[in-house]
Amino acid sequence: MRILVTGGAGFIGSHLCERLLNDGNTVYCWDNFNDYYDPNLKRKNLASALKNPRFFLFEQDILDLPALHNFFENHHPKLSCIWLQGQESVLRYNSRFCTNK
Ligand SMILES: NC(=O)c1ccc[n+]([C@@H]2O[C@H](COP(=O)([O-])OP(=O)(O)OC[C@H]3O[C@@H](n4cnc5c(N)ncnc54)[C@H](O)[C@@H]3O)[C@@H](O)[C@H]2O)c1
Repeated sequence: MRILVTGGAGFIGSHLCERLLNDGNTVYCWDNFNDYYDPNLKRKNLASALKNPRFFLFEQDILDLPALHNFFENHHPKLSCIWLQGQESVLRYNSRFCTNK
């Protein structure tokens, strides 16, 4: 499967990305590496995933709607989405582009 994980560099997201990769999926990780806590920890979280050719990091804010729209235009259909961070982007895009509604 191809799976989008938002907030994918965080505590939960990075473990989830690892698990999804280990299960053979392609993972698109979106994270803006905000400074709520040390962003370097988030980079360390992804150190292993970044070596995997099925892992794609989008270092962008999930609220950047033009960038998100562009992503969906290029990566749907058959895309599952896990929104650990999302705010209104979830409402706007999930039903339109994600297979898991
Ligand atoms: N950890 C827990 O025990 C727990 C419990 C209940 C719910 N949650 C929820 O699960 C989610 C993930 O938790 P976590 O512990 O992994 O948090 P975390 O802070 O470690 O990870 C969140 C990630 O989202 C990224 N992020 C935040 N806003 C973003 C934006 N606008 N665009 C792109 N990326 C953005 C951050 O940079 C961070 O890497 C959160 O919504 C949290 O509220 C966590």
